[in-house]
Amino acid sequence: MTNTEDPVGIAAPTATELLYKEKLIRILQGAYSGELAAAYAYEGHWKASKKQEERETIARIEREEWHHRSLVGDMLTNLGSGPDPEQERKRNRIGKTLRALCNVSGWFMPMYAAGRLESYNVIEYEDAANYARLAGYGQFAPALIEMADVEREHERYFRMKVESHFLRHIFPKWKIPQ
Ligand SMILES: [Fe+2]
Ligand SMILES: [Fe+2]
Repeated sequence: MTNTEDPVGIAAPTATELLYKEKLIRILQGAYSGELAAAYAYEGHWKASKKQEERETIARIEREEWHHRSLVGDMLTNLGSGPDPEQERKRNRIGKTLRALCNVSGWFMPMYAAGRLESYNVIEYEDAANYARLAGYGQFAPALIEMADVEREHERYFRMKVESHFLRHIFPKWKIPQ
């Protein structure tokens, strides 16, 4: 039962809502730090690309990830929480490593890694929207669904790139988000 359905009026969150709130915070902390890693990796990715279209599109995707990070950060503040320092450290390192690797890893690998990651991001934000509703924070759901939709577009873009390359026959396909 959510607070708004409580016939008595204003009620404290139920034990179930508190459990879902904990899950929501964990998933948002993961997404918040994940956006940092993604943004750094995409910065390296677009700067390493020689094609104008790729430079522009991936730079836009990078901006969208920074925007997501800021929205998710606000949600965490609203929940009375904040980033997980351990995740921040870890993803910061991963992001900067990927950013540096873009110069040496060729064309295919960053496109492939990005597509795989984006397919996971879609599910992550959809799960977060479900947990938000269950935790009594349904007001977050529209923004989370919108972020899932943007991640879906990112996934489609990188999948299109991967499918244009012969190495697609060698690398396993990731699950296409519905
Ligand atoms: Fe994102
Ligand atoms: Fe993305």
